[in-house]
Amino acid sequence: MQYLLLIFFFIIHFFTSSSSLAQSISSFSIAESPWNPSKNLTLRSPNSTFTAGFRPSPTSPNLFIFSIWYSNLSDDHTIVWSANWNSPVRSSASLTITSNGDFQLTNASSGPNLWPNPPPPSSNSTRLLLEDGGNLVFGSWKSFDYPTDTFLPSQNITNNTVLTSRNGKFRFTGAKNLVFNGSDTYWTSSNGLMNLELDGLVVLAGASPFLMADFDQNRTRRLTLGDDGNFRALSFDPDKRIWVPVWMALLEICQVHGLCGPGYICYSDGSTFSDYECLCPPGFRKSDKTNSCERKISIVDMAKSKFLRLDYVNYSGGSNQTSLKALKYVDCESKCRPNKRCIGFGYKYDGSGYCVLQLDRILNGYWSPSTETVFYLKVDSSETDSSNFTGMSEVLETMCPVQISLPDPPGESNETVRNIIIITVLFTIEIASGVLLFWAFLKRYVKYRDMAQTLGLGLLQTAGPRRFTYAEIKAATKDFSEENVIGKGGFSDVYAGKLQDGRPVAVKCLTNVTGGDGEFWAEVTIIARMHHLNLVRLWGFCNEKGRRILVYEHVPNGSLNKFLFMQSQVGTDSQEQKPMLDWNIRYRIALGVARAIAYLHEECLEWVLHCDIKPENILLGEDFCPKVADFGLSKLRKKEEIVTKSRIRGTRGYLAPEWVNNDSITAKVDVFSFGMVLLEIVTGVRNMVQGSSSIASEEWYLPQWAFEMAIEEKRMDQILDRQIKNSYDDKAHFKLIDRMVKTAMWCVQERPEMRPSMGKVAKMLEGTVEIMDPPKPTIFYIGGD
Ligand SMILES: *[C@@H]1O[C@H](CO)[C@@H](O)[C@H](O)[C@H]1NC(C)=O
Ligand SMILES: *[C@@H]1O[C@H](CO)[C@@H](O)[C@H](O)[C@H]1NC(C)=O
Ligand SMILES: *[C@@H]1O[C@H](CO)[C@@H](O)[C@H](O)[C@H]1NC(C)=O
Ligand SMILES: *[C@@H]1O[C@H](CO)[C@@H](O)[C@H](O)[C@H]1NC(C)=O
Ligand SMILES: *[C@@H]1O[C@H](CO)[C@@H](O)[C@H](O)[C@H]1NC(C)=O
Ligand SMILES: *[C@@H]1O[C@H](CO)[C@@H](O)[C@H](O)[C@H]1NC(C)=O
Ligand SMILES: *[C@@H]1O[C@H](CO)[C@@H](O)[C@H](O)[C@H]1NC(C)=O
Ligand SMILES: *[C@@H]1O[C@H](CO)[C@@H](O)[C@H](O)[C@H]1NC(C)=O
Ligand SMILES: *[C@@H]1O[C@H](CO)[C@@H](O)[C@H](O)[C@H]1NC(C)=O
Repeated sequence: MQYLLLIFFFIIHFFTSSSSLAQSISSFSIAESPWNPSKNLTLRSPNSTFTAGFRPSPTSPNLFIFSIWYSNLSDDHTIVWSANWNSPVRSSASLTITSNGDFQLTNASSGPNLWPNPPPPSSNSTRLLLEDGGNLVFGSWKSFDYPTDTFLPSQNITNNTVLTSRNGKFRFTGAKNLVFNGSDTYWTSSNGLMNLELDGLVVLAGASPFLMADFDQNRTRRLTLGDDGNFRALSFDPDKRIWVPVWMALLEICQVHGLCGPGYICYSDGSTFSDYECLCPPGFRKSDKTNSCERKISIVDMAKSKFLRLDYVNYSGGSNQTSLKALKYVDCESKCRPNKRCIGFGYKYDGSGYCVLQLDRILNGYWSPSTETVFYLKVDSSETDSSNFTGMSEVLETMCPVQISLPDPPGESNETVRNIIIITVLFTIEIASGVLLFWAFLKRYVKYRDMAQTLGLGLLQTAGPRRFTYAEIKAATKDFSEENVIGKGGFSDVYAGKLQDGRPVAVKCLTNVTGGDGEFWAEVTIIARMHHLNLVRLWGFCNEKGRRILVYEHVPNGSLNKFLFMQSQVGTDSQEQKPMLDWNIRYRIALGVARAIAYLHEECLEWVLHCDIKPENILLGEDFCPKVADFGLSKLRKKEEIVTKSRIRGTRGYLAPEWVNNDSITAKVDVFSFGMVLLEIVTGVRNMVQGSSSIASEEWYLPQWAFEMAIEEKRMDQILDRQIKNSYDDKAHFKLIDRMVKTAMWCVQERPEMRPSMGKVAKMLEGTVEIMDPPKPTIFYIGGD
């Protein structure tokens, strides 16, 4: 009986609830008029993809919004169009069509018509229809002409169609601009957008279309301007039942203007593409009245003001912004200090003289590792806050210190204390979890950009390598003058040069290049796509009159060998006193090179073997940041050079056994060479030169000797570079050097499968994986000469 009752109630409930279920119509006409939100009516497109009708407002459920949404997507908040988002109506409101063709949405009978751009009453149309593509049509009126925050596939994007984010803060206008607060443009596409097609192709005005990451997959798609000001193409993933962004205008959310109030710094660690925080800079606090940051202590005497340095922070939007050319920091500072209106200034340490004063206000502040600017904020001299926008720059400094002064060549000086301090700092920072986040960010950022470029999205972002004319190169290198030569090799000559814009470059003239122009262009594009802090950047190329020339960034300190093997060099370089590389810099060089090669091996779209890793190909930046040179070139070399065994690629001493054993060449050849370099970094000895060791024998082989000393006899100090041996402190350095030596031992194993991958090598050096005791390397060298 009880069961029967229950079933009875269930049936009653079922019927009542189903009767309150929306009734679906295929067109709305005078017959259904008026349409009240309480009527629970919906209008469906012929094939049921889209539905239109009144939906409760997300903020006040008793008020309603006339909307269009996807009928069948689980996430029913995905509204693609709405008539009255900002003016929700009560449940007795009505949508009416009168016999004279008047079309109205009114809250109360006497209220105004809330329909956007309502068609003129004289219209002879009498039906409201929802087309399959999601276009709501009433006579000549189309919802596609008045989009809200979304473009649907097949919807024409014209110069007059404007998207507005739901919160009303951001707009997409003129088919190409993202604008904040009416006129503040923060992103512009180089070509106007015309249409998002069903297959995931975006048609551009006057340029070839670009493809979404999931082009050609059968997906439900839309282009939407979010409340965070970013413009995204989204695809519905049918398995996960979520919308996935497949393209976005801004990869760094903090570049949107107006996300944070005046004075704030928008901060995103990059772990997602949409999360950010608004932080007040040091010396500033939240204002009580407005959404802005204000100075904690107002400056009375400008002459007594000081500046707080914020790394990787950029502000803009100051009134009457003045851009000065100040080659020295003090020149820039002295322009801002006495100026009462100057709140702070942006400065770049790249020698370009970039100095921009921000007057009266500071807007659109953001932190990003891709910014090269340092922002200096003026505060009162009594301000006690210190800048906390350095943490991340210190992390970067562990890869590439901004300014590190090296100790002078060794005397009997007591460097130990200093080194202990540096090493301790280094370790603390390295271990900090921030490093991981930061790297995740950079990696992801780079990956996304690379992906974007491959898919043609680069059209909207950055250009590829620049094509230089032969005349430009000639001018840059003073007609390839002898004094500009910085390197000569069988494969190429390298010249120092200076571009017209003042940028110093290294110009590499290739000889014996194979392949046609198209092939060359393709290879160069691939090389230029490889962005890594520890790879030398390719800026452009020249391919004229049969000359193939690559233009690289100039790396000022030259190659690692000049620093490592000073004593053994009797040549011209020896009179030049090079500073000593201390232990922490050596470690950083090792780690940087490992990461760069790991990137080449594992992260690049093309699998790139370096095949010639040696100290000569490791360049040191001004800051002793290592940069691997000469990568990606192997494919450009003449085929016979690769095939014939007589001309093994690489350099004696760094060649893996596979080259002579006729085994297949894999990424492990680079691991072997790196292992040799690593040992040289520790010992300061060229692996083929046995001179430094007290043991002299025919059979001397650097890895074996180092293994015997450091691992078997546990006398690490025996193998250390004598030049800086006295700065070695067991407590401070042992772990670090032990890691380098053990990693090197694994790298120089004779059998390739015994060697770790380059990614693993980087982790071993970082200390994020345990290093097992390595087996003793077997003697190997390429006989003869
Ligand atoms: C929506 O789902 C229903 C059943 O859940 C199905 O019958 C209908 O064909 C689907 N419509 C579309 C357009 O996918
Ligand atoms: C419609 O009327 C309701 C209740 O009278 C009110 O809360 C709401 O703000 C009105 N909407 C508009 C757009 O005037
Ligand atoms: C609407 O009326 C105009 C004249 O006022 C006429 O030219 C047009 O054909 C009509 N349109 C439809 C769809 O009936
Ligand atoms: C409905 O029509 C649209 C537009 O023509 C089309 O893209 C979509 O695939 C159709 N959906 C179904 C379920 O047929
Ligand atoms: C888009 O424009 C093309 C030509 O400009 C036109 O043929 C097409 O009907 C338009 N589509 C929509 C949905 O208005
Ligand atoms: C928007 O612009 C107006 C002037 O065009 C300005 O007064 C106002 O402060 C700006 N709002 C924001 C949030 O920047
Ligand atoms: C910093 O902001 C200024 C606007 O003042 C902008 O022109 C510049 O490109 C930005 N610099 C960087 C490195 O993002
Ligand atoms: C803006 O700068 C120019 C010079 O760059 C100066 O002549 C002008 O007076 C400045 N305007 C204000 C309001 O400070
Ligand atoms: C800097 O300090 C302020 C206040 O002390 C804090 O709100 C903010 O999160 C800090 N910023 C960073 C990047 O740690």
